[in-house]
Amino acid sequence: MRRKVIAGNWKMNMLPNEAMEFVNTLAPLVKDTKNEVIICVPFTDLFYTLLTAQDTNIHVGAQNMHWEESGAYTGEVSADMLKSINVEYVIIGHSERRQYFNETDETVNLKVKTALSKGLKPIVCVGETLEQKEQGKTIEVITSQISKALENLTEQDLSNIIVAYEPIWAIGTGKTATSDDANNSIKEIRNEIKSKFGTDDVTILYGGSVKPENARELFTMSDIDGGLVGGASLNALEFNKIVNY
Ligand code: 13P
Repeated sequence: MRRKVIAGNWKMNMLPNEAMEFVNTLAPLVKDTKNEVIICVPFTDLFYTLLTAQDTNIHVGAQNMHWEESGAYTGEVSADMLKSINVEYVIIGHSERRQYFNETDETVNLKVKTALSKGLKPIVCVGETLEQKEQGKTIEVITSQISKALENLTEQDLSNIIVAYEPIWAIGTGKTATSDDANNSIKEIRNEIKSKFGTDDVTILYGGSVKPENARELFTMSDIDGGLVGGASLNALEFNKIVNY
């Protein structure tokens, strides 16, 4: 179901005490927002963040998980482990994981299916590189990524999924896609989903150098349902400005 969602991705930042302080600062500032607020935090912060966010409207997510249920996968974390402490969301297929940890469309799809089967809500990331953009391949790349990521899912699954369109050249660079370009790419993702599932009623976020200064312009576009925010989600006051754009 389409709704406004502002999600933070802390990446490999923030210690538990910083996470708890963040939640305590943010919670009163966002208590009246109609937008859904999510923070996706490192594994070591999850438990502390969940406890601190318990009676607030802040939702908590992880940034990765394995697709297997359990077993000899040293260093990995399973969906059941996340569920056991009440984690609600999990980012799947972030470009940094595709780039540095060899995640592929196939493993993204395996993870999405496991997450859904375990009752976790995946935030599925797609996006093109600068080279692909310059070759005019943006739409081809992102529609193929989303098609493979959502392979073998049902229309019903869509209501438990958030998609994030994050052009890789805009991540952490200060370069934001223009609101028209971001909207157009997201419209194409929506069309691809519609052709597969018969509906495009799915929440799709934009990510890549979202800041308090550009949030409103981006989030009021016809097809953009909110943002996945990296750097600007590390400071509660700054993130609050984006939530309450
Ligand atoms: P920045 O907002 O720091 O560009 O990061 C975006 C991102 O990768 C969120 O997942």
